[in-house]
Amino acid sequence: MRYGYFDDAAREYVIDRVNAPVSLTNYLGTQRMGAVVSHNAGGYCWLDSPQYHRITRFRPNGVPMDWPGHYVYLRDDEDGDYWSLSWQPTGKPLEEARYVCRHGLGYSVFACDYKGVSASQTLFIPREEGGRTPVEIFDVRVKNTSDHPRRLSVYGYVEFSFHHIDMDNQNFQMSLYATGSHYRKGAALCELHYEADSWQFLAGDFEPDGHDGVREAFIGPYHTERDPLGVQRGVLSGSTELGGNPCGALQKKLTLGPGEEARLLFYLGTGNEEVAEEVRRRYPQKQADLAFEQLRQWWGEKLGRLQVSTPHENMNRSLNIWNLYQSEINVLFSRFSSFIEVGGRTGLGYRDTAQDAMCIPHAEPDMCETRLRQLLHGQTSMGYGLHLFDPAWFEEQKKPAFKSPTVVPTPDKAQMIHGLKDTCADDALWLIPAVIENVRESGDVSFFDAVIPFADQGEGTVWEHMKRSLDFSYSQLGQHGVTKGLRADWNDCLNLGGGESAMVAFLLIWATRHFLDAAAFLGRREDEAAYRARMDEMIAACRRELWDGAWWLRGFTADGRPIGSHTAAEGKVHMESNTWAVIAMAGTREQGLKCMDAVDEYLYTPYGLMLNAPSFVTVDDSVGFVSRVYPGVKENGSIFSHPNPWAWVAECMLSRGSRAMKFYDALLPENQNDMMEIRQAEPYTYCQFIMGRDHTAFGRARHPFMTGSSGWAYFAATRYMLGIRPAFDHLTVDPCIPAAWDGFTARRSWRGAVYDISVSNPDHVEKGVKAIRVDGEETSVIPVFTDGEHKVEVIMG
Ligand code: GLC
Repeated sequence: MRYGYFDDAAREYVIDRVNAPVSLTNYLGTQRMGAVVSHNAGGYCWLDSPQYHRITRFRPNGVPMDWPGHYVYLRDDEDGDYWSLSWQPTGKPLEEARYVCRHGLGYSVFACDYKGVSASQTLFIPREEGGRTPVEIFDVRVKNTSDHPRRLSVYGYVEFSFHHIDMDNQNFQMSLYATGSHYRKGAALCELHYEADSWQFLAGDFEPDGHDGVREAFIGPYHTERDPLGVQRGVLSGSTELGGNPCGALQKKLTLGPGEEARLLFYLGTGNEEVAEEVRRRYPQKQADLAFEQLRQWWGEKLGRLQVSTPHENMNRSLNIWNLYQSEINVLFSRFSSFIEVGGRTGLGYRDTAQDAMCIPHAEPDMCETRLRQLLHGQTSMGYGLHLFDPAWFEEQKKPAFKSPTVVPTPDKAQMIHGLKDTCADDALWLIPAVIENVRESGDVSFFDAVIPFADQGEGTVWEHMKRSLDFSYSQLGQHGVTKGLRADWNDCLNLGGGESAMVAFLLIWATRHFLDAAAFLGRREDEAAYRARMDEMIAACRRELWDGAWWLRGFTADGRPIGSHTAAEGKVHMESNTWAVIAMAGTREQGLKCMDAVDEYLYTPYGLMLNAPSFVTVDDSVGFVSRVYPGVKENGSIFSHPNPWAWVAECMLSRGSRAMKFYDALLPENQNDMMEIRQAEPYTYCQFIMGRDHTAFGRARHPFMTGSSGWAYFAATRYMLGIRPAFDHLTVDPCIPAAWDGFTARRSWRGAVYDISVSNPDHVEKGVKAIRVDGEETSVIPVFTDGEHKVEVIMG
C-alpha cells in the first residue's frame, strides 16, 4: 500500500493519501531557524536551539497525533462551514475534501480542494544573509473555483511556546504568568516577559480583520484545534492578556468572484512589532517569491555537486535528491529536533556529528568544517571526546543567560567535562577520518595546523588533536590487548566498561590508516612510523584474540567472556565487528569473505541487515543495556540502519558488487514506497531502525531523518559502490557494482572543477578498472584540476 509518490522533476514527495498511519515529516530551514512539520502541518519551529529557544509549541507523543502545528483555516462566511488547508486538524471527510501534501527540499505545501475553493499553504524559511532575523513564511493562496461569488475568511494560527521545552511541559506556576500576549501594528505578539527583549510574532502582509492572542479564547472551552470557537463563530475575540497561554491567530476576510484568486502571507518569527514590520517590508509577495526561488536554487546547487545516472532508478532518486537532503539536515540540525527528540537535549552528540561531517563535505563544506571545529574544541586534552556537549559552552555569550525564577543551580563548566567513566570508546576516533575526508575534499592541508583549544585545558593543532585521540585509544587496552569498550562504543547499549570491544579496535585501525595516509602525504615520517607500529600491534592482537572460526567476536565482557561467538545462544553474530574487521583490513581476505557470508546468512532480511542475531533475551548486565531491550527492537536485533552501509563498504572492499547491491536494496527507503502498511514511515528518508525478525512488527521503520545511517548510506554508495573518492592529490574512481550493469555516469564537482565521469563495464565485472581516459588521454590517475569541466572515462574489466 502506498500513500504517496515521488515527483523527481519537482524534487518533491507527494502525499496524496493524507490519512497515513504516521506523520510523514519534513524539515524547513537551512540556517539558525528550523522547523519540523508533518504532512498535516503539525510540528514546531525554533531559533538556534529547539530546547531553549523554541517559537511554537508541540505536544509530543500525544493524541491526536502531532498537534498543534502551523495551521491555516478557511471559513465559508455564507454558511459557516470551515476547514483547514492541511487535512488535520479539522479532518474533513476525505470523500468531500481533496487533500495533497508536497514535501520539497526545505519547504512543504499543503493543498486542499473543497466546495469550490482551491487553496494552498506553502511553508518555508527563506535564507538570510547578513545576520537578519530569520522568519517562517506561510504563503497562502485561495481560489474561487465555483461559479458564484464567495465570502470567505482565512485564519492563520500558531500556539506559542514558553521558549523552553521544560517550561512548556512542567512547573507552570511561574511560566503561566510570565508570558503575555499583545496585539500591535497588526501583529499577534507573544512577550516572554521574564527574558530581556524576547518576543515572538505572527503577522501578515495584510490588515487583519480579527485577532486572538490567548489560546483559550481562540480555541474555546471544550473545543480543540479541530473546531476552534474563533473559526466556528467567524469572529475572533481580540483577546490579549498578561499571562496565560499565548497564541497567534489572525483573520482576513475575502470576497472572491468566480475564478478569482487571493494571496496572503503570514510571517512567524522572533522579535517585537518593529521586527514584524521590518519583516513585512522585507518580504512583500515579490520578495517572498524570490526567496522561495533562492531556496530552491540553493538546494539545487548543493545537489548539483554530485548527480549520478545509474541503471537503478531508486538509487538515482536517493543519491540525487533525498539521501543527500537527509544528510544535510543532520549536519544542519544535529539530532535533537524531531517528533522523537523533541528538543530536550541541546548540542552535539560527538560520534554522530563527526560521522555526519565526514560524509558530505562536498555539499556542505562550511558547515562540516564548523562542526569539526566544534568537535575539536569538545575534545579533552586526554584525547577523548565529550559525549554530548553544547558548543555554546565554549563560545562567548552574546546575551546574558536566561535565569529561571525557579532557582535551578547553573552547572559549573568544569562539571560538564566528564571523566573516563562516562567516556565512549569510539567518540573521538571518528574525528580522524572526518577531518581527513574534509581535507581530501578541500585540498586545504593547512587545516591540520589550525590551533584549537581542548575542552578542559591547553590547545593544540588539529594534527595534535588527532594524535591525542589515537593515543587515548591505544592507551585503553584490556586483558587481551584489545581496546576497552568503556561506557559504550558506537553501540550505546553495549556497555562493557573494562571489557573489550572488537569494533573499537577495528575502528582504531581504520582511523590510524587514515592518519597514516595523511602523514605519508605530508611527509611526517616520524608520526607515520610510530603509529604504524602501534597499529600493527593492534592488528596482531585482533587476529590472535578475536577470530571465532567463521566470523569475528564482538568483544569480551570485563570478566573475559567472549561476546558474539558460535558457542553463544544469543547475540551470536554482530554487524559492527564483522563489517569493521573488513573495512579496517584487520584480517585476511578469506576471513573477510567468511565473516561477510555469516552476516548474509544470519543477519540479512528483506528490509535490511539486523544488528545482531539471535536477539538477546537473557538479561546480562556485563554485556550491557542491550539485554534489557526487547528482542528485535533498537540495538537488540533490529535492522539498525546506521551499520547497514558498513556492510556495503565491506562487500565493496571484497569486490562483491552484487552482494553490496543486495544489501543496499534491502534498506533503501525508496524501494519501500508500496509497502507502507509494513514500513509505516517515510519512504524518502532512512530511519534509525526497522523492527527485526524477532519482533512482531518485523519491517516497521522508526525514527526518520535524524540518523547517522543517512550520511553513511550516501558515503558508502557514492564512495564505495560508485567508487568516486577524493584522495589528497587525485580523484579515485573505482566502482563496485552488479555485473549486470553496463556502467553509469556521474557529474562531480571537486576543488573548483567539474568531473564528467562515465563508467563503462563491457566485460560485466563487479570490480576492477582496466583503463582510464581523462579528456581523451589515457592515464593511470585522475588529477586535481582547479577549474573547467573534464571528461573522465573509466573502463571496468
Ligand atoms: C543512536 C545514537 C548513536 C549510536 C546509535 C547506536 O543512533 O544517536 O550515537 O551510535 O544509536 O547505539
